[in-house]
Amino acid sequence: MSYLLHIDSSSLGEASISRQVAQSFLDGWHGEVVHRDLAAAPVPHISAAGITARATDPAQHTDEQAAAAAIQDTLIEEFLGAGAYLFTVPMYNLTMPSVFKAWLDQIIVFGRTVKRGSPSQVAGRPAVVISARGGSYGPGAPRYGLDYVVPVLEALLGHEDMFGLDVTTVIPELTMAPHETALAALLPMHEASMAGAHHRARVLAGKLADVTSAAA
Ligand SMILES: Cc1cc2nc3c(=O)[nH]c(=O)nc-3n(C[C@H](O)[C@H](O)[C@H](O)COP(=O)(O)O)c2cc1C
Repeated sequence: MSYLLHIDSSSLGEASISRQVAQSFLDGWHGEVVHRDLAAAPVPHISAAGITARATDPAQHTDEQAAAAAIQDTLIEEFLGAGAYLFTVPMYNLTMPSVFKAWLDQIIVFGRTVKRGSPSQVAGRPAVVISARGGSYGPGAPRYGLDYVVPVLEALLGHEDMFGLDVTTVIPELTMAPHETALAALLPMHEASMAGAHHRARVLAGKLADVTSAAA
């Protein structure tokens, strides 16, 4: 059976709430896991050599293009080989951590991993995105509409013209409530959100295990 590709991007290591919720998922997952920690080992930003290598015959690559292409090939192979995905992508300044965007820019290659009008090789595979944030961005919140993490990831990972993954999101919110007195009144909402996120992660692990073993 193929593996779960687990990618972390919070800089906070074990203190990361996204990572802690991911652990609840992993506690219920018994298959093989390939783990990549983008905060501990960031992948390079896409370079001119990396972009031009995509449209150049490998036999004609410069040394720089060959090195950049080798990084893309490794990351793409790892991504395409997975049967399911677990991504931890917290909110940093309303969007995703730059290390995660750098990884996406390496693996989204039009004409190769993503083809307009035809499903990608990974279409339909399940993906769980866990995205902790200090505030709240749901309906009714003052910052509703300012979440540029989850909608962007749903488009890049889930849209049928992109990877077409079957994306489910888990959003532990108000994580700054225990640390900011101005948010103290929201502590019960934060605690409910945390309990819900851990529960949802455990349930999703069971569901994904069933889906991937049925597909194997
Ligand atoms: C660089 C940085 C930027 C942040 N920007 C936001 C933000 O725009 N909105 C927000 O609600 N929280 C923001 N936060 C708070 C984090 O989203 C919050 O601490 C969350 O729990 C981080 O996820 P993690 O615990 O998985 O690391 C930011 C935190 C950092 C370190």
